[in-house]
Amino acid sequence: MKHLNILYISLSGNTTNFVERLTQHLATLDVCVHAINVKATPDPKPLDAPFVSFLPAFLKGGNGVNNGYTEILTGILADYLVYADNYKRCVGIIGSGNRNFNKQFALTAKQYAQRFGFPYLTEFELRGSENEIVRIGQMLLAYAQPTPSAAWPNPEA
Ligand SMILES: Cc1cc2nc3c(=O)[nH]c(=O)nc-3n(C[C@H](O)[C@H](O)[C@H](O)COP(=O)(O)O)c2cc1C
Repeated sequence: MKHLNILYISLSGNTTNFVERLTQHLATLDVCVHAINVKATPDPKPLDAPFVSFLPAFLKGGNGVNNGYTEILTGILADYLVYADNYKRCVGIIGSGNRNFNKQFALTAKQYAQRFGFPYLTEFELRGSENEIVRIGQMLLAYAQPTPSAAWPNPEA
């Protein structure tokens, strides 16, 4: 059994739904997901092992070309990453959003990758399709850890 740590935010439930389905899929590949939703547990703590982040885009107005770059509502994920230099253990970020937002689609995760210097891995829309669960699950196998780590919730608990 390997272990995959995920730090994410979900405000209206789409990302939580994706992470839950990803968790079920990865369990069939002998990978146990340990996930923290910073909306539910906003008090940051030091994260002592490598992890992947998931971030849906919430931007203020605009079009993502001339304006509309300002993050709203999701800044507590940035706060969590800044706390205790947690961002240094983030191995990459996955963006999501709604393609109706055109150039702003999944833009906040791209902004975080640039700001914190970790890779932008990929994106999915809304709750993601089953194909995206399989595709992203395959991608994330590379970041699974050989042992669980104390800072991350034990899904059995
Ligand atoms: C006020 C508001 C602003 C949004 N801005 C964007 C945006 O700029 N780009 C984008 O791709 N999606 C945008 N979305 C769509 C959300 O990112 C999308 O619904 C996402 O799946 C929400 O994830 P969650 O349910 O896990 O919170 C916005 C949604 C709302 C309600």
